[in-house]
Amino acid sequence: MMLISLSSNIVLALHFASSLALPPASSDAGPWKAPGEGDDRGPCPMLNTLANHGYLPRNGRNISKDMAINVLDQVLNWDATVVSDLYDFAQPTNPQPNATTINLKELTTHNILEHDASLSRQDSGFGPADVFNSKIWNETVAHFTGDTIDVEMATKARTARTIAAASTNALFTFPQLGMNFQYGETAAYQFVFGEWNLDAEDVKNRILTPKNYIEYFSKKERLPTELGWEKPANRLVMDTLQSFTVSMMQLTQTQMDEAA
Ligand code: HEM
Ligand SMILES: *[C@@H]1O[C@H](CO)[C@@H](O)[C@H](O)[C@H]1NC(C)=O
Ligand SMILES: *[C@@H]1O[C@H](CO)[C@@H](O)[C@H](O)[C@H]1NC(C)=O
Ligand SMILES: *[C@@H]1O[C@H](CO)[C@@H](O)[C@H](O)[C@H]1NC(C)=O
Ligand SMILES: [Mg+2]
Repeated sequence: MMLISLSSNIVLALHFASSLALPPASSDAGPWKAPGEGDDRGPCPMLNTLANHGYLPRNGRNISKDMAINVLDQVLNWDATVVSDLYDFAQPTNPQPNATTINLKELTTHNILEHDASLSRQDSGFGPADVFNSKIWNETVAHFTGDTIDVEMATKARTARTIAAASTNALFTFPQLGMNFQYGETAAYQFVFGEWNLDAEDVKNRILTPKNYIEYFSKKERLPTELGWEKPANRLVMDTLQSFTVSMMQLTQTQMDEAA
């Protein structure tokens, strides 16, 4: 997920959102079920999760833009200003000419959106980059040094994975879009699972995220409702995603300057 310099789409996206009122993708939406025979999943733990709950098609295929906008609105309180752009970046992963849907598995195509240095997946040069990888995830979790993940820990985990990948993977690449998305992904889990205090003076306190929610979500690809998580009360709009992402980038720079 991204996001700097996407503002040209925002007006369109808002206009578009007002005409949407689709039902969830499947009639059994809600209950979690592990993916079955023939169901596809991909490198995004949240889209996988939404398919496991039947909010997105349980087979992981044929996800339209309207569906993505509608489901992320209803389940996560994400605004179309964010989801519309996100979906557009994913559309080219479907190799069919003029496709109007995406498929979770195809999101794995390297360096369209899938990038090296993921938090819970190995780099594609080492093997499948779509499935959860416990060794990689353990590296990430090592930076979550308390029951609550603050923004400082989240940015350190992101930086550490990037340095580790760059120094161990001979095929390592990190295009600008991949890097922006990687920051956006670290923002995304905080927005969905954390408590927002975006006006806090100290950047590290702007979102505080229960570690147990993140562990549960990442390993099970399931919403941590049984741990007490609820749909965020705050709506995520593009301005918020951009400004929080920029503050994470600045914090990262400060951390690297201090370490140097
Ligand atoms: C249309 C919406 C979305 C699209 C197209 C999308 C696509 C992707 C893709 C392609 C990746 C793989 C990048 C990589 O790690 O190599 C990814 C990772 C990720 N996504 Fe999504 N995503 C969407 C929505 C969301 C939402 C709503 C969340 C909220 C929590 C989310 C959280 C994440 C996280 C945390 C990762 C990083 C996983 C890791 O580093 O191991 N995504 N997403
Ligand atoms: C669903 O996606 C598959 C490719 O993954 C495609 O072959 C099929 O035609 C699509 N079905 C619909 C109804 O769009
Ligand atoms: C895709 O769209 C372009 C432009 O509208 C059109 O010329 C082309 O025939 C379409 N291709 C297919 C396979 O539908
Ligand atoms: C990751 O950590 C968990 C919990 O500490 C452990 O059970 C698992 O074996 C570790 N995975 C790897 C590949 O080291
Ligand atoms: Mg990756």
